Amino acid sequence: KYELRDKTALLSGVTYEQSLLATTALTPPLLTRIGGSDGFHTLATLFYDRVFDDKENPWFLGIFASSTKSEAVDNQYRFLVQTFGGEALYKEKKGKYTRLVGRHANYKITTDAAERWVVHMNGAIDEHEELKQDEEAKEYLKMYFRFTAFYIVVASVYMKNDQLSGGVQIDSGRVW
Ligand code: HEM
Repeated sequence: KYELRDKTALLSGVTYEQSLLATTALTPPLLTRIGGSDGFHTLATLFYDRVFDDKENPWFLGIFASSTKSEAVDNQYRFLVQTFGGEALYKEKKGKYTRLVGRHANYKITTDAAERWVVHMNGAIDEHEELKQDEEAKEYLKMYFRFTAFYIVVASVYMKNDQLSGGVQIDSGRVW
């Protein structure tokens, strides 16, 4: 378990502890600063507008080929409200377990995909009106997303290698 965190820190440049700051170290909490659950709905909308507009990167947009924008926004919105201490909206829709890694297992998520995902999320964060003057919240939120995105990459490699019972290959900072 700690090995996953260490590998993620190595690849992302964000430590596990830094990734926790967004959910634990802010007073008032991020949920308040971003404007309550509506604020996360806005963030998810800004994010997926960018993703579904990313026509120059068909390899990335292709990952979302089986999703609709409105469903994707709704899922991410519910997940974020719940993660940042609001109502358990994600549980209401998807059941008890979050299974973030498992739910991404069917997509081809490489480090390049994580980088592209983070570009769009950072863009959405910078565009968010409620966070405009809040450098601390923006910085922590970006660290949370960057760590989590790379955690998904690293953990899916472990899951796949578990099934194949092969070694984990992380060459020159790239994970397949
Ligand atoms: C769902 C891709 C990282 C949270 C999805 C979906 C795709 C995807 C294609 C399906 C869209 C839908 O219909 O909901 C990726 C890629 C990532 C990434 C390429 C890059 C590493 C993240 C991160 C988070 C996240 C960092 C959270 C911090 C979610 C959630 C769902 C989702 C909550 C809904 C899953 C479900 O309930 O079925 N992602 N994702 N993703 N993603 Fe990601």
